[in-house]
Amino acid sequence: MVLYWTMNTPLNKLAKNWQNASALISILSLSLFFGLGAVADSTQLEAWIQSEARTAETRLVQNISPRDGLPGAVLASPSRHDPDYYYNWVRDAALVTEVFVTEFENSKMRPGADARHSAAENILWDYVEFNQTIQVAQSLTGLGEPKFYVDGRPFNGPWGRPQNDSPALRANVLMRFMKALQVRGRVSEAVDRVWPLVLNDLSYVSSEILSPSFDLWEEFKGDNFFTLTVDRAALLNGAQMAQSLNGLSKQRPSNNEKLATLWRIQAAKAEGALQKHVSQSRGQIIENLDYVTGSVARKESGLDVATVLAVIHTDTQPYLSYKDTILNQTLQKQAAQFQNLYAINNTKLTIAPAIGRYPEDVYYNGNPWFLTTLAFAEFYYRQGLAQASSDSLAQGDLYLERVRLHTDGQGHMSEQMDKGSGYMLSAADLSWSYAAFLTAIDARDKLKAAIVNDY
Ligand code: NOJ
Ligand code: NOJ
Repeated sequence: MVLYWTMNTPLNKLAKNWQNASALISILSLSLFFGLGAVADSTQLEAWIQSEARTAETRLVQNISPRDGLPGAVLASPSRHDPDYYYNWVRDAALVTEVFVTEFENSKMRPGADARHSAAENILWDYVEFNQTIQVAQSLTGLGEPKFYVDGRPFNGPWGRPQNDSPALRANVLMRFMKALQVRGRVSEAVDRVWPLVLNDLSYVSSEILSPSFDLWEEFKGDNFFTLTVDRAALLNGAQMAQSLNGLSKQRPSNNEKLATLWRIQAAKAEGALQKHVSQSRGQIIENLDYVTGSVARKESGLDVATVLAVIHTDTQPYLSYKDTILNQTLQKQAAQFQNLYAINNTKLTIAPAIGRYPEDVYYNGNPWFLTTLAFAEFYYRQGLAQASSDSLAQGDLYLERVRLHTDGQGHMSEQMDKGSGYMLSAADLSWSYAAFLTAIDARDKLKAAIVNDY
């Protein structure tokens, strides 16, 4: 592993790390000499995961509640130009918040984690408060509006809007927070402070369920597997939540029942539309259909890692199971395409390929991304969790090794890595990259625990 890393590391980076690198090479040659290569590999991955987790969390927290913004605003990235990501994207913020809900949920099981628990909880309440502000801001598309300045004002410039995955992702993470509060006997906080935001989002999602929307990449307005999948999950989570709150919420119980019924009907409509994306004849999922407008009109392959992201972010209400044949074929086809497309994958490395968004991508010339490569890792960890399989752990780790290879010595992760050199590219310290790493390793930890308990 180390040997390959030095071989594929761009020269100036290597020069910078030369002392480390040569030290590592001598350790490696020693361990090879003694036949310990394999052992060294997995220990190094584990060690990297530990240190990267601390780095990722620190940098993620630095992107939250920036000094010039309101508490709870989440910067997509601190980068202010090339590209300008100095905004709170509703989607990115919701996916980042998954990390802190997970920490809040896990803390009960991990005694001694109290400081982290309350830090996570503070971030969650700030998130609630900031989103309360932006939900009622006068924006061009209301709750479908994709991004806001960190002071809570909507961004009204030209942009791909609406993006109807965003309110669903926010509702989903807020409902996870509500559940965690409920489990801790804090039902009234959940109902009084969080549920009103969820009601707003779900009433929007429910009424817009079949309306064309810009996709998560903000390029294709039409009918998107990702958007439909997360919207469906939000409506079904909402229906369950509404029923569980019967008699507790300020609304009359019958209202909750009516909402649950309506949301289930709308979710079924989403399922009808989703079926069209599952192509038996092509043996794959087609992410985008029925183009209306946008900068990307056609993707010949139909392949897009948005599909994988849809699956890992709707675990609680799966539309397709992790074992689904067409879904698994889709991942294989995607990996094969990216394997051929990017020079950095064209090596003798025994690790998985770096993964991009979709093969036809031209943004920054079309490169692999951290969050999509991490989504592959997380998919396999979660597949393993669903089936208690250790093969999936190994498969996921091959993608994590790929991410390790392109992460720099300080543990930074930007948005992309150059397809030719492997260097980081585009928005620096992208919050979503760190969040994708942290949720992937949380799934990995849980899978490892499940494997130990099983055997
Ligand atoms: C910015 C979007 O965020 C990105 O996803 C897209 O590829 C480019 N604009 C080009 O449309
Ligand atoms: C561009 C990505 O395509 C989009 O998904 C993301 O929300 C923004 N960048 C902000 O990170």
